[in-house]
Amino acid sequence: MAAAATSRRLLALAAVLVLAVLSLQAAVSSAAAKGTRYTVGGADGWRVPPPEDKERFYADWASNITFYVDDSVEFVYKNDSVIKVGKAGYYHCNETAPDAAPRDGTTLFVLDAPGPAYFASADLDHCNMGQRLMVDVLADRAAPGPWASGPSAQHSAAALVPVALAALAAGFV
Ligand SMILES: *[C@@H]1O[C@H](CO)[C@@H](O)[C@H](O)[C@H]1NC(C)=O
Ligand SMILES: *[C@@H]1O[C@H](CO)[C@@H](O)[C@H](O)[C@H]1NC(C)=O
Ligand SMILES: *[C@@H]1O[C@H](CO)[C@@H](O)[C@H](O)[C@H]1NC(C)=O
Repeated sequence: MAAAATSRRLLALAAVLVLAVLSLQAAVSSAAAKGTRYTVGGADGWRVPPPEDKERFYADWASNITFYVDDSVEFVYKNDSVIKVGKAGYYHCNETAPDAAPRDGTTLFVLDAPGPAYFASADLDHCNMGQRLMVDVLADRAAPGPWASGPSAQHSAAALVPVALAALAAGFV
């Protein structure tokens, strides 16, 4: 009798724990799938940098961020353009696109592969004046462990507490 009650309690407890782990995993993977969106250059946006910062303006901006696959970079510009280029296009500023006429715009690129990604103004003069960006993309945000995640996972962990309390109150455990 007592043994049966104990094993029933253990089963219920196990069910609550399994539920908790499953919802945490769902929260973590949906947060990772969305990634983080960064506005290139912050408030300065995407433009020809001041001449004295030509070599480091966008490198400095990027150096403050750790980019992961599925993050995205948003370029906000006026009478300008942005294209994804290759390594040579970044270092030599010799890659452009026929349809990248200057305009006002917002362009979003998803960082879909690990490794370096290169962007530049399609205006080669602008590129030569430092309007180019390289970001180093890391493969796996989840590597440090599921608990090093964003606010949504914390939020749903908090939401689980009332569920567990309700189960206790209902005499399940
Ligand atoms: C990068 O971070 C440093 C230290 O927090 C800060 O002083 C600097 O302004 C940041 N640079 C950019 C480009 O955001
Ligand atoms: C827009 O950019 C083009 C090419 O860089 C330049 O020739 C033109 O003067 C610019 N227009 C304005 C309004 O700044
Ligand atoms: C850019 O320059 C590099 C080095 O000279 C060259 O290897 C590459 O093919 C050039 N790219 C274009 C699109 O002209």
